[in-house]
Amino acid sequence: MRYKISRRDLASTKSGCTVVGVMPDEKLTPSARHLDRASRGAISRILARGDMPGKPGQALWLFDLPGIACERILLIGCGADSDRTLAAFRKIIAGTAKALEGGGARDAVFCLAELSVGRQKPAWRAEQCVIGLEDAWYRSDTLKKTSDKPQFKLESITFHAHGTVKQAQLKKALTQGQAIANGILMARSLGNLPANICTPAYLAKKARELARNHPKLTVSVMGESQMRKHGMGALLSVAQGSHVPAQLITINYQGSRSKRTAVALVGKGVTFDTGGISLKPALAMDEMKFDMCGAASVLGTLQTCAELGLPINITAVIPTTENMPSGSATKPGDIVTSMSGQSIEILNTDAEGRLILCDALTWAQRFKPEVVIDIATLTGACVIALGKYAHGLLSNDDALAEKLLAAGEQADDRAWHMPLWEEYQQQLDSNFADMANIGGREAGTITAACFLSRFTKDVSWAHLDIAGTAWKSGTTKGATGRPVPLLVHYLINRALGT
Ligand code: BES
Ligand code: MN
Ligand code: ZN
Repeated sequence: MRYKISRRDLASTKSGCTVVGVMPDEKLTPSARHLDRASRGAISRILARGDMPGKPGQALWLFDLPGIACERILLIGCGADSDRTLAAFRKIIAGTAKALEGGGARDAVFCLAELSVGRQKPAWRAEQCVIGLEDAWYRSDTLKKTSDKPQFKLESITFHAHGTVKQAQLKKALTQGQAIANGILMARSLGNLPANICTPAYLAKKARELARNHPKLTVSVMGESQMRKHGMGALLSVAQGSHVPAQLITINYQGSRSKRTAVALVGKGVTFDTGGISLKPALAMDEMKFDMCGAASVLGTLQTCAELGLPINITAVIPTTENMPSGSATKPGDIVTSMSGQSIEILNTDAEGRLILCDALTWAQRFKPEVVIDIATLTGACVIALGKYAHGLLSNDDALAEKLLAAGEQADDRAWHMPLWEEYQQQLDSNFADMANIGGREAGTITAACFLSRFTKDVSWAHLDIAGTAWKSGTTKGATGRPVPLLVHYLINRALGT
């Protein structure tokens, strides 16, 4: 979609459609009121018939109103100003997206960024509008012969710059919103691909493609023989059950002139998780194709940063492999040595994420980053603890955790801080190795993070468990693209020192 800005008078602007909000009890938003006056009360008269209760996201098309130059008006229910939560705002934008995609307009003047949402600023609202629209229009239909996308006629959206909003700020918000939306859509598309297409080699190809499009990105991919040379026994122990070779993808984004890497992002890229010899039950096992959503969110975040040209240096590391049962697969009880030199007793081959991440975390620290953040669909326990709304956040640095929590609030992509107390560490004790790879039934998300913490002792590190948030199940099954918004906002804050 193309996004533009205009300050021209709404009533006399020609367009395929003008989108304005209405509230319950026939109350009008400022733009709707302006159009109502220009049409000598035509909108109020229609509302008085009772066809538009004004609930968030409801849509009503009006045609050929007198005194108004646009072909159509799309009235969108916005709820009352006082009840407009973030969630309600999202509903409003999603409802608008749905109405627009079914409508006949080629261009639209959009007036919903004027709606108040708590204390959020106009630029924030405009950014969220773009992200919400793009997110709602996305379809995972590349593998369908017939697309379920309705005939989409809309080509451009012009944001109406109301009252006091500075045009430059609005422009920045739209650019940022579109870049974030592109990152989210990339993460969603990769996540939705099946494991027979989205293999470790495919992710490596996508990383190279990304770098080809952005001069500030460089990629290197390590194969299994090099992993062996570096002593990455934990990563290799997961890969050994599969015929498709594992890859360790390293991407460098050089956005600033500084030599230092500010942030290392490490994303779990298990392209399919059967559980290995500790085989998972059959029910919904297809969803384990989403076990690379951490990797996908890292690629999406880089795409956004590169598009925005953020002045910051980022190193991304993606360990990627399948987790399969086979004659060559790791057996429960096997002991392997990680790149860090610490030995691991693999008591459950389904706790594979931490095994590939621990070597990737050790590798990432070679680039001497100031902070390391890993993103992983790591534990079913996190889905039980936090459900599908909050990412689990664990960190060895409270200041870093605070910044990530704040970025999540800002982006409406929230995380919840969980404890990483020393007491939990003993659950990983092993009689035969430096540690076991599982810590028992209790506090599964925390003990998984405890495991990772043993590989990040010398660096400021945070872990996002996105097992509950990375995808949706049921009829709306599909990847969400989270936590791209959180990560991008964190990186923007860090790059611009805000
Ligand atoms: N990829 C899974 C975690 C997962 C499970 C994500 C369900 C989303 C939904 C991970 O590799 C895994 O299998 N974790 C095990 C760990 C256990 C064996 C300690 C789990 O959570 O059951
Ligand atoms: Mn697993
Ligand atoms: Zn997994």
